[in-house]
Amino acid sequence: MSISSIKAANIPPGSGVAGQIGDRPVAIYNSVEGLIVLENICTHMGCETDWNPAEETWDCPCHGSRYHPDGTVLRGPAAQALTKLGYSIQDGEIVLD
Ligand code: FES
Repeated sequence: MSISSIKAANIPPGSGVAGQIGDRPVAIYNSVEGLIVLENICTHMGCETDWNPAEETWDCPCHGSRYHPDGTVLRGPAAQALTKLGYSIQDGEIVLD
């Protein structure tokens, strides 16, 4: 299992960061209302998405699905949103529920 963490302060407002917390792939967007933490597993066939800063979308490199920063689908073939994950901030680090 990989040991990894993401500090909330390292995600500027209006930006997304794809990475891992523990062994879970996550896609985290810093919105004006706070962080949106998503499981970064494309609902089409399971690839990990990348943050597209120009379009402000999560883009899947495998078959072209695109997601809104909140995980909802903007373009298929994916039909379902990325899964939202509960989290808390502990000592500045994002910890999954
Ligand atoms: S796995 Fe993401 S579009 Fe197919």
